[in-house]
Amino acid sequence: TTYHVGYFVGSLSSTSLNRKLAKALVRLAPKELEFEEISFRDLPLYSPDFDANYPPVALAFKDAIASKDAILFVTPEYNRSIPGGLKNAIDWASRPYGTNSFSRKAAAVIGTSPGSIGTAVAQQSLRSVLSFCNAPQMNAPEAYIQFTPGLITDDGEVTVDSTTDFLRNYMAHFHAFIVRVRTVLPRE
Ligand code: FNR
Repeated sequence: TTYHVGYFVGSLSSTSLNRKLAKALVRLAPKELEFEEISFRDLPLYSPDFDANYPPVALAFKDAIASKDAILFVTPEYNRSIPGGLKNAIDWASRPYGTNSFSRKAAAVIGTSPGSIGTAVAQQSLRSVLSFCNAPQMNAPEAYIQFTPGLITDDGEVTVDSTTDFLRNYMAHFHAFIVRVRTVLPRE
């Protein structure tokens, strides 16, 4: 069975390390997983004033999430939390009240940083948000990737064998998790 995974890159940087990581994860994933990036770059800042009439860009964003079996978050850490753009996107997806796009949607969290704790604090913060949004999360394995220079090429090729194995194993577990969630919560 093919499963459709949407992924968010938490960074808007044109030279994002997390985008390189996302490309690597797509390359190393089991063949049963198909990937599409869900961009949040063009969303305005969320306000409840939009709830009565969501703009097309936000409706398309929510539709993109709805069409997926699972969501993978690949995010940097900004000031010990997640970047504001990513939080804004999650807020958009969670509303209008009663139409939360993340409810019962399988999710996984990963990220990379040049710092040695490898986005651990941001991931913990994101997990709290996703818990409130009722997204079943893969709890283990966790993945805190310290980005040493050259670790992943622009094309998503990992240059360290132990990291390749680690990331391949992470995606194998994510596949198994998606299968389990879909068994309990089938497509509608
Ligand atoms: C950072 N950076 C950072 N790194 C970290 O490990 N913990 C942190 O709290 C922060 N805080 C932070 C805030 C802001 C505003 C910026 C711009 C950066 C450094 C960050 O890890 C580094 O810039 C990465 O390259 C960001 O990921 P992308 O954009 O390359 O994917």
